[in-house]
Amino acid sequence: MTFTAKKVDRTLVSREEIREFVTRLGKQISKDYEGEELYLICVLKGSFMFMADLIRELDVPCQIDFMSVSSYAGEKSTGIVKINKDLDRNISGKHVLLIEDIVDTGITLNHLVNLLSTRNPASLKIVTAFDKPERRQVEIDVHYIGMEIPNEFIVGYGLDLDGYYRELPDVVVLSD
Ligand code: PRP
Repeated sequence: MTFTAKKVDRTLVSREEIREFVTRLGKQISKDYEGEELYLICVLKGSFMFMADLIRELDVPCQIDFMSVSSYAGEKSTGIVKINKDLDRNISGKHVLLIEDIVDTGITLNHLVNLLSTRNPASLKIVTAFDKPERRQVEIDVHYIGMEIPNEFIVGYGLDLDGYYRELPDVVVLSD
């Protein structure tokens, strides 16, 4: 595919706002898990930037792992989620925190939570940078939310359009 640059229409979430919620989440999570160890799971690819920022705000011992999943949905989401890369370690007895960049329909996370729950973690919670509640199709308990956003297509801070724009430090809306 050839890259054709689109113009940024506007910034929806600035890097300063992102820094603020990452700091807030880091404090909250550190408090909630005081005295425990955390096993952080980055759901690739979009969450790589959020995890890198969040982990530096945590004040509890933690290890990291990565999962890669993709939804095979044709034009519409069918809820079929394929695991491309599974975790490296067993999570039995561990306090697991799933890190997402965005929760949209909830289908991906619902599948992941169901799968990981069968592996007997001590606890399993979810943190997401962005939440689009208007788009939810599956009810899911998201424990930590950076920011609720309206139903607009956004890129930046890890989020992509056809694999591009992940590097943008702000979350933006592109022109048509
Ligand atoms: C995004 C995001 C979540 C999922 C959320 O991943 O990172 O995993 O979609 O959507 P849902 O709530 O409707 O399931 P995407 O499939 O775009 O992959 P990427 O992170 O590799 O870009």
